[in-house]
Amino acid sequence: MRHPIAVFATMSHRVFNFSAGPATLPEPVLRQAQAEMLDWHGLGASVAEISHRSAPFIELAAQAEADLRQLLTIPDDYAVLFLQGGATQQQALIPLNFAVPGQAADYLVTGHWSQTAIRQAQPYVEARIVASGQAGGFRDVPARADWRLSPDAAYLHVTANETIHGVELRGRIEADVPVFADFSSSIASEPVDIRDYGLVYAGAQKNLGPSGITVVIVRRELLERAGQPRADILNYASHAARDSMLNTPATFNWYLLGLCLRWMLDEGGVQAFGTRNAARAARLYAAIDGSHGFYRNEVAPAVRSRMNVPFFLHDPALDAEFLRQAGERGLMGLKGHKVVGGMRASLYNALPDAAVDALIDFMQAFRQDHG
Ligand SMILES: Cc1ncc(COP(=O)(O)O)c(C=O)c1O
Repeated sequence: MRHPIAVFATMSHRVFNFSAGPATLPEPVLRQAQAEMLDWHGLGASVAEISHRSAPFIELAAQAEADLRQLLTIPDDYAVLFLQGGATQQQALIPLNFAVPGQAADYLVTGHWSQTAIRQAQPYVEARIVASGQAGGFRDVPARADWRLSPDAAYLHVTANETIHGVELRGRIEADVPVFADFSSSIASEPVDIRDYGLVYAGAQKNLGPSGITVVIVRRELLERAGQPRADILNYASHAARDSMLNTPATFNWYLLGLCLRWMLDEGGVQAFGTRNAARAARLYAAIDGSHGFYRNEVAPAVRSRMNVPFFLHDPALDAEFLRQAGERGLMGLKGHKVVGGMRASLYNALPDAAVDALIDFMQAFRQDHG
């Protein structure tokens, strides 16, 4: 009998893609984009070929915002921005917009992306490390009792999900200052109360759609902060005042993101994804933990990421063969990030459940052959 993955791959020429981002997109979205590529909405032109100031595009943008508001239950007193520059650029813009010169801001360090956030912010703010998991190899989140929060901080920055280290912050964060969170790799993966945050940002290229567009959700009253001298293009308030069309936006990316939002709503929204994501991540972690040391994940169980599952083979000499055989079975994008090595399976919303089952089957078969 042929392996089901081989059959799947032959039928649709699409693999199961575990890439960390840019990542797999929902197949119906890709098909719709394909069907509409030459003639969008009867205009006789592609959506990529029309003005961002035209009525049909403005309608598209408004619909995407409405859909994102519905998907994430974003309250009216929060602005939603669709920007460029990726999550990394937001990490630099945050202190410019929300900290006055000489002010300090608090940073919780739970992995690689928390460190990036500090590096980007440092030219503009005194970044104080509240606590860091670095000494423990970023295998756990520092205990709340050990966080040294500053009452005079402009904000507290956290990384909701560490895409490389596979560490996820769980639960509400108590702080006297607004909490700003990098949700790049876990936005829309489960219900979250936006009111717990002053600002949420996410590069779209994981759960929300393609790279090249970045979502910022910010409590409107924070936009009144003076921040630091900066050009309009670096000013969140200016982007909000111009509906994210201060300059030419990433129109095609915005369109694809809009299709992904509709798809997520049609699939049952964040409630449905939350349940599904928790269940399948648990299945994969159970397979790793139950492998008698053949595979291992070193993150403390309470903070293991549901979106990005890094794991190691007991013998790194087998890594190349593991990846080769996985590729043969249509399992793509499993090589770990170079910072940690090993393997990583990213389980974003658009990844079918069958992909996770196929990965687990393959891991068991590989272990039998090489154990
Ligand atoms: C959690 C997190 N933050 C920030 C980034 C950087 O995003 P970008 O490449 O959009 O700047 C990434 C990229 O993978 C990420 O996973």
